[in-house]
Amino acid sequence: MSSLMLLFAIALFTYSFGSAQLHRALLSEDGAAEATQPPLTLADLVIVIPTTKERLPLVHASRLARRGIRTIIALETAADAAALNEQTGGLAGPHAEAYVAWADAQPDESAGGGPYGRYPPPATLHAEHRTGPRAAMAPMLAHELLMALARKAAANATGLEHYSLGAPNSAPPPYRWLLLARDDTLWLPHHALSLLSGFSGRAAAVCDHLADWNGITLLSPSRVAAACLPCGFNLTAVMGRKRPPKFPQPVCPVCRPASGCEFRFDLCNGLVGDGNGCGTRRFLGSGDRCGHSWPAAGAGVALNFKLLSYINKEKWVSCVRDGQPTTGERALGRCLWRVGFGLTLSGAGLSAALSRDPLSPHHMLFGNPMARQAVFGTEADSVLGPVYKRLEAAAAAARAAVEDKARAAAAAATAAGDAAGAIKAIAAGGVTTPGGQPWLYGAADLTIATPSTRLAVAAPPPPPPPPPPLVIDGVVVDTEAGVTQAPPLKQCDMACTAKWVAGAAVSAHLDVPLDEGAALTRAELTAAAALLAAAAERVGKEAGLPAAA
Ligand SMILES: *[C@@H]1O[C@H](CO)[C@@H](O)[C@H](O)[C@H]1NC(C)=O
Ligand SMILES: *[C@@H]1O[C@H](CO)[C@@H](O)[C@H](O)[C@H]1NC(C)=O
Repeated sequence: MSSLMLLFAIALFTYSFGSAQLHRALLSEDGAAEATQPPLTLADLVIVIPTTKERLPLVHASRLARRGIRTIIALETAADAAALNEQTGGLAGPHAEAYVAWADAQPDESAGGGPYGRYPPPATLHAEHRTGPRAAMAPMLAHELLMALARKAAANATGLEHYSLGAPNSAPPPYRWLLLARDDTLWLPHHALSLLSGFSGRAAAVCDHLADWNGITLLSPSRVAAACLPCGFNLTAVMGRKRPPKFPQPVCPVCRPASGCEFRFDLCNGLVGDGNGCGTRRFLGSGDRCGHSWPAAGAGVALNFKLLSYINKEKWVSCVRDGQPTTGERALGRCLWRVGFGLTLSGAGLSAALSRDPLSPHHMLFGNPMARQAVFGTEADSVLGPVYKRLEAAAAAARAAVEDKARAAAAAATAAGDAAGAIKAIAAGGVTTPGGQPWLYGAADLTIATPSTRLAVAAPPPPPPPPPPLVIDGVVVDTEAGVTQAPPLKQCDMACTAKWVAGAAVSAHLDVPLDEGAALTRAELTAAAALLAAAAERVGKEAGLPAAA
């Protein structure tokens, strides 16, 4: 029995959404490629979840929002993965879940060492950093498994071994989009289909909620992300001109680091910076050598088949093990960058004429805090509030210790007459970092996750007033909104924005901390899983997912 055949048979709903059509219309340059593709269905999506054995209750809680969608779950040990595949029946089982593992947590020479290779990281490493490499590996493992299964199924069906996937006139690829997020992120499959239907089959990593380290502070969400708009996005229709200044560009065929860097360089007035989160020279870079952005923690990212087909697994492995220990999202952003890909924004707020800000935090569809409110309600904070309080206390204590050390180092440098050294010591200690602003969260301590998916949301800025008419020597030259004028924005206040997000968001992040500083109790994990399960049931119903097998 072929698990794939079964799955293709399970879920075949054809969706058609107004906003998808709108999005497609805006992607007209690429329309030809898009038109030849069959409509996107649930069978084209695969959800990928890196997690740990302890947190599996969270993964199982989201099942009702994943019916008809294959799920691949990445665990720490191969033994656990094998046992769970046996138990649940794998992709052909009732939950269509397969478990994979990579580089067992116990460093073992014969298996090539632990997640960080032969040089295990210190035991004191933050949990998010310890699990980082495996989270960044998860999409690669999922791609590999799906390709192997498809080859096997095809060989059985045709009796041929030399079967090529994805080539012209051959079988369709085994999936079209991987939805990669954390174990406490809930995907809204109907909205994801709607958004991703607007994209062509060209290689893309899509996320509109990005984070940056600008060399001084962590920005999440970042307003200076080195990203692109989707290939073929019609900026003329939205902004009234093809190349508005300080604006990300639609880049074809794929978003390259150079294009993202160019946007940031322009936004920040070149190496001068504008003091607005633009950070260090290294972050601004030049050419294609600026600092990479990454999907904000828990927001999730959609990676398509074409993109993963380009990536060499061995190179990817060495990339995720290379460099400083970090979160899965940051390692993913770094490794995509290294293989030549930047992140593609959704452009959703622009398409809907709600904003002229391409990185508007109010209109993000990935991990928007307003979606968290809409999907999980206020109960999320009553269940998890005490955990966040403990986490904040632990983080504050850690920060205070770092600051004290920095102050002492600065005082010593000052006493020795080294003024520059004192400034450097202060900066290294993050003492000057402003923290906790509602949308531009700053945290110098990289061991703290930036909770931008659960921050409070300030009201969106009112639409700008219409531009004044052009007057030359007292004569009104330009009375009409001429060809270079952007079309008016829809008036959309807080309630309207929240409604729009609730109707279009592709992911909502509950945010159950992975941090030992918060020491999540069993009861808290159970309560969080119950909350996720209730939300998943509602989402599954709204999305019209097929009834349980
Ligand atoms: C190959 O196909 C046959 C008939 O459909 C089926 O009985 C068999 O289990 C399949 N084998 C594999 C390895 O999928
Ligand atoms: C983009 O939109 C403008 C204005 O709506 C339109 O005139 C133009 O033809 C569109 N460009 C493409 C390539 O479709």
